[in-house]
Amino acid sequence: MSNYFEFNGQVKVCCGENALANLAYELDFLNCKNPLLLSDEGLVACGTLDVFKNAVKPVKFKTEFTKIPADSSTLTINQIARLYRNNKCDGIVAVGGGSVIDTAKGVKLVLSQNCEDIITLSGNEIVKKGESVAFVVVPTTCGTGSEVTSVAVIKDVKTKTKLEFISSELLPDCCFLDLKMTQNLPAKLLVSTAIDALTHAVEAYSSLQKNPISDVYALGAVKLIAGNLLDAVDGDSVAKSNLLLASNMAGLAFSNSMVGIVHAIGHALGAVLNIPHGVAMMMLIVPCLRFNKDVNHVEYSNLLLYLTNEDTFAYTKPNERATTFIDKLEELITKLQEKTGIKLKLTDYGATENELDLICEKAMNDGASVTNNKIFTREDVMEILKEIY
Ligand SMILES: [Fe+2]
Repeated sequence: MSNYFEFNGQVKVCCGENALANLAYELDFLNCKNPLLLSDEGLVACGTLDVFKNAVKPVKFKTEFTKIPADSSTLTINQIARLYRNNKCDGIVAVGGGSVIDTAKGVKLVLSQNCEDIITLSGNEIVKKGESVAFVVVPTTCGTGSEVTSVAVIKDVKTKTKLEFISSELLPDCCFLDLKMTQNLPAKLLVSTAIDALTHAVEAYSSLQKNPISDVYALGAVKLIAGNLLDAVDGDSVAKSNLLLASNMAGLAFSNSMVGIVHAIGHALGAVLNIPHGVAMMMLIVPCLRFNKDVNHVEYSNLLLYLTNEDTFAYTKPNERATTFIDKLEELITKLQEKTGIKLKLTDYGATENELDLICEKAMNDGASVTNNKIFTREDVMEILKEIY
């Protein structure tokens, strides 16, 4: 761990029952009178967007775009930025999961940097503090933590590559964690996004860029997820609330510590095979942690306490704790897989052996590979892919 670190936790978090009742106040504080509402068709169809609109009365939106596709794309971002300008909006309210939030971040970047095409902002040194754009995020999944991260992953449709943008210019002014927004979340999505959050916490806690502040958020997130995930799948609303908070805490951790090999390969699986991000995390977390175990022995040993309990930790010999942590994680994934029927093999998503090379190449070039605590090769990635093929 370096003795120099930075930690940015500048997003105001409004959390709890009826948190959304404060949206009008926050928009007024941000001088936003003509907000643009962003969401997706799934949230319209299941009624969650109506629940949101009822909860935020008397807020009125100048216009809305509720057709954000499941995979954020550069074209969608440029189209929404034009809509914002044509309607003279003065702020963005994004209601959704990872794709909606990442798209909204991309739109905010195009507007704050006063440009037409997000592609021209690729390469993080280009982005500077720009024009103020009021930006509020309301997550509807329990996983990405994207509402507090300075990262957006956006698909470049031309090159089939996931572009990673990292800048504090992507951060919202505030976010709302309100249980009402996750009440229609299907079990499969709840599980895969929660495992995404767990992966954020575990990778942040063991990354090259870990620091004492992000460690606190990461450990707290692991404890909350482990203690609530199974109850949340069974419909317990307190447990679901705790997952929403845990995902936010894991987001704060990884936004400042970054992630590692699980995300490097996971991004490649998303780009090549369109595997949903959380499902990719479920496939990869155990084999990748086994690969990293020799260098992350201390961190994984500590994580056993947070994933299980004091008794399990105390009764496990110190030199077996890292292995037991990964074994317990595998048990949890298996239980969740059995409960939800989520498919966890690459062939379930139409993968062919020919595509494995391309996945390896993309994983090696992914930004998340830089902060993995253990250097990995193309051959290492191929071994991991064969385990889940
Ligand atoms: Fe993730």
